[in-house]
Amino acid sequence: MTSGVRKVLVTGSGGLIAGALVRGLGDRYDFTGQDIGPPNYPSVPTTVGDLSDMDGVRKAFDGIDAVVHLGADSRQDAPWGSVLPNNLIATRNVFEACRDAGVKRVVYASSNHAVGMHELDEPYSRIRVGDYARLDPETVPQIDHTVQIRPDGQYGISKAFGEATGAYYAENFGLQVACLRIGTVNRANRPMDVRQLATWCSHRDIVQLIRLCLEHEPLGFDIFYGVSDNTWRFWDIDHARDVLGYAPEDNGEDYRSSI
Ligand SMILES: NC(=O)c1ccc[n+]([C@@H]2O[C@H](COP(=O)([O-])OP(=O)(O)OC[C@H]3O[C@@H](n4cnc5c(N)ncnc54)[C@H](O)[C@@H]3O)[C@@H](O)[C@H]2O)c1
Repeated sequence: MTSGVRKVLVTGSGGLIAGALVRGLGDRYDFTGQDIGPPNYPSVPTTVGDLSDMDGVRKAFDGIDAVVHLGADSRQDAPWGSVLPNNLIATRNVFEACRDAGVKRVVYASSNHAVGMHELDEPYSRIRVGDYARLDPETVPQIDHTVQIRPDGQYGISKAFGEATGAYYAENFGLQVACLRIGTVNRANRPMDVRQLATWCSHRDIVQLIRLCLEHEPLGFDIFYGVSDNTWRFWDIDHARDVLGYAPEDNGEDYRSSI
């Protein structure tokens, strides 16, 4: 391991992606957890508390090499009353706690919804409903990490806020920050509808991507899409391939007959 990352705090450690992470990389890192709810994984020592309350969670960051910040209201249609404490205030607190505790690196769970309005433009608006007429998946222009921020709701706004907060802490305090605009990671671990044939990210692919973000040297501030190598994907993975060596193993197309 080149980065020396060993002690990793996972916020939102009771959630879906945290579970995949702990199962996939439990032998590689000393995980600790932090969640507002009760611990789901007995092997991971967990601080129970609300990330929007800095005093209640600050100690969890002491002695940590890197944080995987997953804790949030993860519903795309989450109302502002929940987004404000659980996504905005919580995320600012995580970055501030990292600065205060001397944590070197944060992998931040952003979302495709930070740029979700792009998906309503052609040809993505057709791909998401399975209208592939006159389209060649090899030549569909990919939505990449340089596109304009175009959130599609309060949740998407909160993820854009998180990316901006990460950029601020990277530039001003030298924190290393990787933002992952995650597509669709679900419990079934396969696409469940036509849109997800394009947006799905398998458990092992998101785990690989998080591992690469934890260990890649050098890292300043960067943005990557968390999506498998789906035939009809419209989010770029070339940047993650080039910078991190991301080599996704799955393709949603393999599940077309089952949706
Ligand atoms: N699963 C996906 O497809 C997907 C896609 C894009 C982005 N993301 C992001 O990835 C992260 C993890 O997603 P997930 O699917 O595992 O979500 P999840 O809902 O399963 O887990 C989120 C966890 O965060 C915890 N949490 C919420 N508010 C908290 C607070 N104030 N303090 C402490 N803990 C709090 C919850 O209790 C929960 O255990 C989220 O930030 C989500 O927005 C997920």
